Amino acid sequence: MSTASPFVVVANRLPVDEVTTPDGGREWRRSPGGLVTALHPIMRAEHGTWLGWAGGTGPAADEFELDGMRLHPVALSAQEFEKYYEGYSNATLWPLYHDAVEPPVYRRSWWDNYREVNRRFAAETAKVAAEGAVVWIQDYQLQLVPAMLRELRPDLRIGFFLHIPFPPVELFMQMPRRVEIMQGLLGADLVGFQRPLAAQNFLRLTRHLLGLHPKGPEVRVDDRTVRVAAFPISIDVGEIERLAASESVRARSAAIREELGNPKHIILGVDRLDYTKGIDRRLKAFRELLQEGTLAVPDVVMVQVATPSRERVAHYQTLRDAVELQVGRINGDYGKVGVPAVHYLHQSVDRTELTALYCAADVMMVTPLRDGMNLVAKEYVAARVDLGGSLVLSEFAGAASDLRQAYLVNPHDTDALKDGLVRAVRVDPTESARRMRAMRRFLRGHDVDHWARSFLTALGVPEATDALAAVV
Ligand code: ADP
Ligand code: G6P
Repeated sequence: MSTASPFVVVANRLPVDEVTTPDGGREWRRSPGGLVTALHPIMRAEHGTWLGWAGGTGPAADEFELDGMRLHPVALSAQEFEKYYEGYSNATLWPLYHDAVEPPVYRRSWWDNYREVNRRFAAETAKVAAEGAVVWIQDYQLQLVPAMLRELRPDLRIGFFLHIPFPPVELFMQMPRRVEIMQGLLGADLVGFQRPLAAQNFLRLTRHLLGLHPKGPEVRVDDRTVRVAAFPISIDVGEIERLAASESVRARSAAIREELGNPKHIILGVDRLDYTKGIDRRLKAFRELLQEGTLAVPDVVMVQVATPSRERVAHYQTLRDAVELQVGRINGDYGKVGVPAVHYLHQSVDRTELTALYCAADVMMVTPLRDGMNLVAKEYVAARVDLGGSLVLSEFAGAASDLRQAYLVNPHDTDALKDGLVRAVRVDPTESARRMRAMRRFLRGHDVDHWARSFLTALGVPEATDALAAVV
């Protein structure tokens, strides 16, 4: 039996996955994704409990400690993995909330599993949370948990943060279970979004769909007030800076350049292999520039690291095939023996390698069609302690509101994308350093601690913010 926790984070994923090693053993590995990257330092600081799925479809392991956090696994059955995770979360909600850049799939049988799993998360949270505890629920997979938890434990202070975009009213209205989702979210005391526009979309919906009367950022629900606001997420800037400045990363970064054949310009993309990330648009722009002769191998090479993601979902399979076809064609047409035009890695890389890649890249391409924030863009800027490198950034990433000195582009417009890329390749070092300095200044004042503190302060948790301040 575990001790009750005064601070609980509830997320679909634990910050680790249990995986089988090639020799048949089991081990915990840190899972991919921005959410985990963002919350890890806060959990460490707070000694909180984190509830989440550990990957796999077996029974849940017992609660365990890791790095100062208590981790409480929640089980998913094979059917729930298929219908709650792959289905409702990642084939219905994910595309719908990302501007429907791929058509959302609506299946009635997925909804029952979504509700069931949300109920399990609420019930488990109710068991581990101390009297009056603060519970912070994360992301689109768990939108029903706030109301379910409030019903079980009205004593708790409940925050909810959505890491992905929240769609405009017209799009949200497509969703068959739209009222239940809104009611679920309104179980929280504070509902946080990445951008002010998302918060406005949500407030508009409370009026349009539920007939409520929001006043500014607040809406009365029964006898409670729910606050709605934007809290743009960020990264652990200090950690990346330290890594970037380390001897091992500097050496590895130099080695990467060498291994790539010492090109004049390295262009880098780092993403989960997701259709929202605009990887195909980026490759198309690069291909056209090679075709026209504006850029040429071996002076310029591209590295694309694409983490495998949601691999059984049809949209992702189609995307993988399309990206790999494009890479093959570009290399076939423009590569040379020993020098492919695009170095494509369909794998996850560790933090040291990732930071070394950031440090080696002259141009970072972050071109999502829609993205809640995009932490990769912020990580790149944090890693450039040398003020080198240029960032090409989609206007449709939340990060575009924060990193104003990037080369901002519309990824739907191939000419604009090409123009942004060429400008970033050709920029003189003084100008690129000026841009990088300004972005770095912003990031230093707006790191992940700032994000967490802003959210928790708005949730009315001064003691938690004091604890955070003590470790920063
Ligand atoms: P998303 O949350 O949609 O995956 P973000 O850019 O916000 O996108 O966050 C992605 C996180 O995953 C970042 O912290 C990034 O460093 C990490 N990441 C992305 N691709 C890889 C990769 N190939 N190897 C290791 N880490 C990766
Ligand atoms: C995004 C989502 C997270 C999710 C992550 C990785 O960052 O906002 O909630 O955990 O992608 O996706 P996955 O489906 O592998 O958890």
